[in-house]
Amino acid sequence: MAMDTYMPMVRLGEPMRAGGIAQVIESKHPKYKPGDIINGLCGWQEYPVFEPNRADGVPPTKLPAHLDPALTLALSVTGLTAYFGLLDIGKPKPGETVLVSGAAGATGSIAGQIAKLKGCRVVGIAGGPDKCAWLTNTARFDAAIDYKNENVEARIGELCPKGIDVYFDNVGGEILDAALLHIAMHARVVLCGSISQYNVGDQSERYGIKNYNALTVNRGTAQGFIILDHLDRAVEGLLCLHKWVQDGKVVQEIDVQHGFENIPATLGRLFTGANLGKQILKVSDAPLPLRTSGIEKAVLAVLSAYYSRRA
Ligand SMILES: NC(=O)c1ccc[n+]([C@@H]2O[C@H](COP(=O)([O-])OP(=O)(O)OC[C@H]3O[C@@H](n4cnc5c(N)ncnc54)[C@H](OP(=O)(O)O)[C@@H]3O)[C@@H](O)[C@H]2O)c1
Repeated sequence: MAMDTYMPMVRLGEPMRAGGIAQVIESKHPKYKPGDIINGLCGWQEYPVFEPNRADGVPPTKLPAHLDPALTLALSVTGLTAYFGLLDIGKPKPGETVLVSGAAGATGSIAGQIAKLKGCRVVGIAGGPDKCAWLTNTARFDAAIDYKNENVEARIGELCPKGIDVYFDNVGGEILDAALLHIAMHARVVLCGSISQYNVGDQSERYGIKNYNALTVNRGTAQGFIILDHLDRAVEGLLCLHKWVQDGKVVQEIDVQHGFENIPATLGRLFTGANLGKQILKVSDAPLPLRTSGIEKAVLAVLSAYYSRRA
């Protein structure tokens, strides 16, 4: 909120920034009509106003009305982050070992399942026995480490005896450091996020990286990435993910909270780990009737099949 990071800081008086799915009620722009469903930076407000022609604005994307809005919201940012972060930055190959932290969350759960589809051995790290059981029983991970109750470094050593080829990191801090001690030769470390450090206000108290020398010794790479740089291929990623979920190849857990007044508390759930899978909040049902088009549906089905076979 208070720093210019990969998006401009939230200015005084502006609503808190948040992605959302909404229905157009009124429009002065020829591309958007009342009844259309859009995905965009809706913010913490009941009636966002978009100015799609503004140079500094991210224009909302129109969505086919037949897609489930909760699933689309789940897949659109965190699903795409997992898709491009794992496939383009992690570049997993069949037979490799992939370790994922924040593995029972929105991004991590999808990254791990895509790695399984690519023929990798996948180990997830999550907080608590229930989330670990979900990872192995439902999300089909090969093994899980409960970082709240187990020695993470020792368990990575046991579960990844040939070393980690791809580490998809959502949490940073001590877990990142523990993973670095076990990377294989030419490992790729995908720096997706560091949620363990976001609430450490004083920069000098952040954990940092102590074991980075492991990258040198093992000729590894660590690459940060931001999903905004991949949005030109968002349609491809979204259709592919939708198809995998539809075909039962990927499980997308969605944790829905309700009520505008519960938005701040819902955000807090990400930091206590109360969420399983994608955390979303429903403000209201679509106020206007949904218009679905059979042709649009058919075209999207063909494209989804094509992208999911190619990925
Ligand atoms: N690079 C990008 O473009 C991009 C885009 C979207 C998200 N991200 C990043 O991806 C990560 C996951 O985001 P998400 O939206 O998918 O959230 P999420 O994983 O659904 O929820 C966050 C999870 O983080 C875990 N967590 C919280 N505090 C932790 C701690 N101190 N140590 C270890 N784990 C902790 C909790 O799970 P447990 O119960 O397992 O602790 C919680 O469920 C975040 O770091 C986020 O910033 C990056």
